This record gives sequence, structure tokens and C-alpha cells, in this order.
Amino acid sequence: MHNITIIGAGYVGLVTGACLASLGMPVQCYDIDAGKIECLSKGLLPIYEPGLESLVSNCIRSGKKLDFTTDLRKAVESSDILFITVNTPTLENSQCDLTHVFEAATSIAQYINGYKIIIVKSTVPVGTCRQISNIISNELARLGKNHSFDIISNPEFLREGSAIQDFFYTDRIVIGAENKAAADTVKEIYTGNLQCCSPVLVTGLESAEMVKYASNSFLACKISFINEIAAICECCGADITQVAEGMGLDSRIGMHFLKPGPGFGGSCFPKDVKALAGIAEGYGVELGLLRSILKVNDEQSERMLEKIEKAAGGLEGRTIAVLGVAFKPGTDDIRYSPAVSIIRSLATRKATVRVFDPKAMGNLKKEFPQLKLHYGKNIYSTCRNSDCIVLATEWDEFADLDFEKLKSIVRQPVFLDLRNVYQPSYVKQFGFYYEGVGRK
Ligand code: UGA
Repeated sequence: MHNITIIGAGYVGLVTGACLASLGMPVQCYDIDAGKIECLSKGLLPIYEPGLESLVSNCIRSGKKLDFTTDLRKAVESSDILFITVNTPTLENSQCDLTHVFEAATSIAQYINGYKIIIVKSTVPVGTCRQISNIISNELARLGKNHSFDIISNPEFLREGSAIQDFFYTDRIVIGAENKAAADTVKEIYTGNLQCCSPVLVTGLESAEMVKYASNSFLACKISFINEIAAICECCGADITQVAEGMGLDSRIGMHFLKPGPGFGGSCFPKDVKALAGIAEGYGVELGLLRSILKVNDEQSERMLEKIEKAAGGLEGRTIAVLGVAFKPGTDDIRYSPAVSIIRSLATRKATVRVFDPKAMGNLKKEFPQLKLHYGKNIYSTCRNSDCIVLATEWDEFADLDFEKLKSIVRQPVFLDLRNVYQPSYVKQFGFYYEGVGRK
């Protein structure tokens, strides 16, 4: 049985730690933030992720070994498998900030007391695992220590809102390694315990690192592509939902990630596409397609704003009700949320903005205290007296709106469905002006 330490109890670290512990492996989650660790020890989570809180509580209650600690020395000493899951934010120059990753590497070298497998799960630029290996080797030499270790690149493919499901039923497990025995150990940690038979791909370190960036960039590319096609559809009378279905039925294209909307957001796609473009630039390679993915995404937000302005009959003095703040449903994460970008622009252009989200209102208040917004208590109080309702995040709660009731409380019956949740004819029958994305 392996003892596992997770370094960085953020979103990826918590999901990975809790899932491995639920499978019966002894797991310690380390974080530098003492307040966070104290809350986690009581089963209180700093983020909303469906099923995660109950998974953590169940592990704690049922005596499964899932411990939370601020003592990194003890955590490193008592484990043979160390996951690095610290965050890697984007710097002003678009590069990835690796400070936390390198700090983790240095600490591991300081506390190492025997052979360890170090699994890098943080999203890091190609070449970082080799750098981590060098940092640890140099630090060990400086300290006169003589322990061996192996570095593994093991990118994560978890989606916020369905991370636990994604962990247990992943499409693939990618293991970048230099040492076959270490790769086999990591493979066994996953496949020995998971009930699924996901393909495992063993690659070199750099290739595994690149799989992550290339996958996220490709998915982001699909979204920007379909958003551009949606814009043409609006002009020529085609319906994007039918077009996307017609395209997606070709198995070479596939149905996924062909939903148009206000653009992609979240902590991964915008950051990773930018980082990959930055990596290429560092090698003197200009990747025009990557830049275009981001440009189209920025323009999509602007396009949505124009739609709202036109449909509401202007913005200044108008009341706009925005349903949805999170960058996607199932999460309270508002990082790079297209809904937030729309809300901010509406407020700047002097509209009265009323917002509602089932989970992300707290984060909006916390992140943008200067924004003058009206935070609704529920869907209907938010939409009251509005000149335009904007559905910005496709929460289930917004999929069954009472349009008769809405019609009786709004000032103007205008509904902008930025996620194409409804059939246009359905909403129109209640006397609403309806517009989606890529269809009329
Ligand atoms: C993404 C990847 O899907 C995960 O595989 C990856 O592990 C993760 O990033 C990461 O790097 O950690 P996530 O950011 O949680 O996951 O969310 P997605 O479900 O991929 O959605 C990203 C954005 O694209 C959202 O704003 C969503 O609304 C938008 N989107 C998605 C569309 O506009 N259209 C689509 O068809 C799909």
C-alpha cells in the first residue's frame, strides 16, 4: 500500500486526494494556508464542487485516512508518493508563474528521507518536470543527501462541476516518465483501484506536459470555431444547433464542445491557450491559430454585449437581469467568466444590472466589491421590472422558467438566451422577443 501526500489543497489537489482516499489509500493533503487546512479538517470546503464535500466528510467519518496538514516535513517523510498540485497562475507577460511549483520541489528535497515518486499534476509549461528534477537533484547535492526519486508528469483532465465523475471515469490516464518502474507504480495507483478500464498512455515527460496544453487549446479552438460559425448563421438564416449536430455526427469531428455561447471562461482555457502561445513564442515560433482562438473569444463577449444593447433598446438607464455568474454551471468559480465580463461591461455602460446565480453570488461580491449591482434573492425578484433578461450560465435552475410569470413582472419582454437553452418558438409563444446565439 502506498502512502500519498498531496502538496496543494486547491481544486485539483482536493479532488485527487479525496478520490484516492475514498479508494482506501492513506492520503495527506498539505497546504500552506492554515485557515484552509483547519476548515478542511472539519469537512468544510473552500470551493463548491458537486459531491466533493460529501466525499471528504464520508472519508473523515468512515475512518478512511484523509488527513489535512500544514506540516510538510511530516507529510513528505511519511509518504512514498508525492503529488504536486499547487496552482500556476498567469503572469502579466502571459507566462506561467511557477513559484509555488519550484518551492514545492525545494521543500521535497529538504525533507526527503528515502525513495519518492513525485507526480506533477499542476499544469506546467513543457520542460518544467525536467527543471523540477534538476532543482531537487541540485538541492540534494547541496544538502549532501543521497536519496533517489523519479519525476512523473501526470496531467489532469478534470472539469469543474463534474470532477469526481471525471476522476473515476476518465477518458485516459497520461503518464510521462523516464523510468518504466515508476510509470508502472503510478499506473497501478490508478488502474489497480479504479473500476474503469481507461486507456493508459505512457509517454516522455515533455510529451505528457504538451498533451495537457494541446488538449485544452484544441477544445478552446472548437468553441471559438463554433462561435464564429454561429455568427455567420445569424446572418444567413441557418440554425447553429442543427449545424453543430450535422457536423458532430461525423465521428472525426464529434459532438462535444460545439455549443456556441458567450465564449469560454474558467481558470484553464484562457490561461492555457495563452501560456501555450507564450511557450511557442519563447522558441521563436508564432502560433497564429492560438492567438486567434483568444481573439475570437474576446470578440464573442463584445458581440454578446451588442446583442443585449440592441435588444434592450440601449443600455444607459435600462435594467438588465443577468441569470448566471459562474463560468459554467455546477461551480461557484467566476474566474474569466464570460457572464462576469458581460456584467462588468453593462455596469460600465450605465445599465442597472440585477444578477442571480445559485452558487457564485458570494464570489462576485467578494471579487468586485466596487461594482454597483443588485443581487437578486431568486430568479423572479431579479427579473422584476427588467428591460431584458440575459441567460448567461446554463444552470438547471434556469432551464424551466415560468415565462408567463416573467411576462407579468418584466418591463419589456426581452429574453436573450446566450446558452441556447430554449427553443426560440417556445419562448416567443409567451410574447417574448427571443434571441439565442447563432439562431433566431
Ligand atoms: C477544462 C477541460 O475541459 C478539462 O478537461 C481540464 O482538466 C480543465 O479545463 C483543466 O485544465 O483543469 P473546465 O475549465 O472545468 O475544464 O470547464 P469546461 O467544461 O471545459 O468549460 C470551459 C468553458 O468552455 C466554459 O466557460 C464553458 O461554458 C465553455 N464551453 C464548453 C462552451 O462555450 N461550449 C462548449 O461546447 C463547451
